[in-house]
Amino acid sequence: MSEEPIFHMTPDEFRRYGRAVVDWIADYYERVESFPVLSRVQPGAIRASLPAEPPLHGEAFPAILRDVGELIIPGITHWQSPNFFAFFPANTSGPAILGELLSAGLGIQGMLWATSPACTELETHVLDWVVDMLELPRKFRSDSTGGGVIQDSASSASLCALLAARERATRYTSNDKGCDGRLVAYASSQTHSSIEKAMKIAGLGRNNLRLVEIDEAFAMRPEDLARQIKRDRSLGLVPCYVCATVGTTSSNALDPLPEIGKICGEEGIWLHVDGAMCGTAAICPEYRYIHAGLELADSYCFNPHKWMFTNFDCDCFYVADRAALIQTLSVLPEYLRNKATETGAVIDYRDWQIPLGRRFRSLKLWFVIRHYGVEGLRWHIRQHVELAQQFARWVRESDRFELAAPAPLNLVCFRHVGGDTINERLLDRLNRSGKVYLTHTKLNDRYTLRLCIGQTHTEARHVQRAWQLIQEMATEVEQEV
Ligand SMILES: Cc1ncc(COP(=O)(O)O)c(C=O)c1O
Repeated sequence: MSEEPIFHMTPDEFRRYGRAVVDWIADYYERVESFPVLSRVQPGAIRASLPAEPPLHGEAFPAILRDVGELIIPGITHWQSPNFFAFFPANTSGPAILGELLSAGLGIQGMLWATSPACTELETHVLDWVVDMLELPRKFRSDSTGGGVIQDSASSASLCALLAARERATRYTSNDKGCDGRLVAYASSQTHSSIEKAMKIAGLGRNNLRLVEIDEAFAMRPEDLARQIKRDRSLGLVPCYVCATVGTTSSNALDPLPEIGKICGEEGIWLHVDGAMCGTAAICPEYRYIHAGLELADSYCFNPHKWMFTNFDCDCFYVADRAALIQTLSVLPEYLRNKATETGAVIDYRDWQIPLGRRFRSLKLWFVIRHYGVEGLRWHIRQHVELAQQFARWVRESDRFELAAPAPLNLVCFRHVGGDTINERLLDRLNRSGKVYLTHTKLNDRYTLRLCIGQTHTEARHVQRAWQLIQEMATEVEQEV
């Protein structure tokens, strides 16, 4: 009698190949600086290199891993290169990667407390730690009226906040009846595009998102917010949500939370604060001023997956009143009923997010916090801010470049004084060199370069070299135009 074939990886194979993968990752980090930061492949090139058909028979793992190096790496833009200065970072670290690996290894799905109590309780605990680490308002702790949950992204967090705001403003009837087109929300022109998307998804309609004017530092003008709310009320509309940002995507502008919070409080409007990247800075007492007024917010989110050395995806989302969020998102089909839920003594995070299922994301954040300790995290954040401030000083001292916006933390917006064409060409040349990767924005309708320092391994020498390169290439571009 022949034995049944077994296609699974055996524990011994897993051990062997697992070590090979960890070695591969360690080697990758050792040589990441040797790759062009921005991938150079042409559209379609990666697909063209892959077999048209899936393999009928399993392949040897070493061959698969070899193909990662040969076929996949050319199509990678190296976010973990210390020369990555683009967008906002999505940094990671050894403890985060290992936490992620363990999460996959355990392979649990933590939709209910009962489906893995440790998944829920570690998350609650770590999110309470984060409240204390960043000195966020106490109302966001789970032993208060609110609590925190890990979402995949700031986009999801802002959407959940908008849904709860929508429900609260309609006395929890829009879930049943739908929206009647009268709900309106407010954000500045600098607010992340995820709010516009949330308006579409939540059924408020993007025409009902009001863009509030900004000041010369690109921060929301509270007096214009108040004016627009008043006008909307006079038209019989129902203002329900304001999104303020701590560190806007284009320029790191800090919206004035005390004034915005006061208006929202008086008007009974849900205030959501998006601190996607900059929130992490509050781990250092000297940068906590960015959160002044946060005690007036109904919800808050920031992304450890941007600047807190925790690989994507990990967004910490807090609400002041968890009952509002749960009432908005909870549905309980028979197949999810269980004794623990019925006691009311446990948190079921499925009621705090859009999907039902959820990964064990708190493991990686727990690993990061325990590995670095609060002081270790502070050291690196201060280092990044100091490097950005040094870069800003060089720009200020240069007669060819100027700052395009205030640089309060780790993002510097700057431009060559010669106009848009020079800046566009300079950026293109820098990125084609493969030595650095920067991105751009438009501020006051002028093409602006952004240099953001937040990659885990960026050191002074990388920033010095970037500045040197920028100057050299500026000279070349100046001669061309
Ligand atoms: C201020 C701000 N909010 C939200 C987001 C969206 O982040 P996520 O990818 O976590 O949805 C970003 C992304 O850069 C951002 O800068």
